[in-house]
Amino acid sequence: MNKVWLITGSSRGLGRQLAESVLAAGDRVVATARRPEQLKDLAETYGDRVRTVALDVTDPAAAHAAVSTAVDAFGRLDVLVNNAGGAPRSDAATASPRLHAKIVELNLLAPFLVAQAANSVMQQQDGGGSIVMVSSVSGHRPSPGTAAYGAAKAGLDNLVTTLAFEWAPKVRVNSVVAGMVHTEQAHLHYGDEAAIAAVGATVPLGRLAEPEEIGRCAAFLASPLASYVSGANLDVHGGGEAPAFLAAARVDPD
Ligand SMILES: NC(=O)c1ccc[n+]([C@@H]2O[C@H](COP(=O)([O-])OP(=O)(O)OC[C@H]3O[C@@H](n4cnc5c(N)ncnc54)[C@H](OP(=O)(O)O)[C@@H]3O)[C@@H](O)[C@H]2O)c1
Repeated sequence: MNKVWLITGSSRGLGRQLAESVLAAGDRVVATARRPEQLKDLAETYGDRVRTVALDVTDPAAAHAAVSTAVDAFGRLDVLVNNAGGAPRSDAATASPRLHAKIVELNLLAPFLVAQAANSVMQQQDGGGSIVMVSSVSGHRPSPGTAAYGAAKAGLDNLVTTLAFEWAPKVRVNSVVAGMVHTEQAHLHYGDEAAIAAVGATVPLGRLAEPEEIGRCAAFLASPLASYVSGANLDVHGGGEAPAFLAAARVDPD
C-alpha cells in the first residue's frame, strides 16, 4: 500500500502484531510505546521504514509530537490506529474515582485526542487519511468487572460516528469491535491454555481470535477496499457471545 501508519501501543499484543505485519508488507510506521526500548527490535529489523517514539497516549503534547514524527520522517500520515487501551479488573461499586477516570481517559479521551492530532495533518494532505479505533465487545454488552472500560469503549464507538461525520470527506473514521483475542496476555484474563480453549468453545467459531485476525480487519478499514466505509463499528468477534440464559433454559428449542 505504501502508506504511512501511526500505531499506538506497539509494545505487545494487537498493536505489536499490526506494526509487524504492516512493516512486513512494505509500509512505513511510526510505532509508539510508553517505553520505546520495547520497540528496539522493530527499528533493528525494519531500519528507515520505522520510527519508534515514546508516547503515553494520555499526554496531548506527546500525541502531537508523535504525529509530527510521521510528517517529519515520511512527509505525511495516512493511517492512525488507536490501539493502546485496556483496563485492570475492578469492582464498579468500590473502585476509586481516580481509577474510573484513568480507565475512561485511556480508552476514550486519549484516542480522541490522538485522532484530533492526526486529523489536523490528514485534512491538509492530498488523499486525506483513515483513523481506526480498536474497540471491544465490552462496549456492547454488560462488562462485569470492567464497567468503566465497557462504558469507555461504547463511547469510543459512538465517537467514531461523529468524527466520521465532522471530518468527512477527507478522513474516514471507523472502529474494529474486537471479541476475545489470543494475545500473550490472554492467560491473565482466562487462565491456562485449557481454560482459553474452553472459553473459545463458547464462541460460535469455536476459539478466540488470533491477533492477526483483528489486525487484518483494521488494515481493511484503513485500505481503499473500504473507501466508502466511514462511521462504522465492525464486529470481529467470531459470531459473538451466547446469551447466558440459554445455558440455564430447560425448554426444548424445537
Ligand atoms: N485482547 C483482547 O482480548 C481484546 C479484546 C477487545 C479489545 N481489545 C483492545 O485491543 C487493544 C489492544 O489490546 P491488547 O490485548 O493488545 O492489550 P495489551 O497486550 O495489554 O497491550 C496494550 C497496549 O496498550 C499500551 N498502553 C496502555 N496504556 C497506555 C498509555 N497510557 N499510553 C500508551 N500506550 C499504552 C500498552 O503499552 P505498555 O507496554 O506501555 O503498557 C500496550 O502496548 C486495546 O484497546 C484493548 O482494549 C483487546
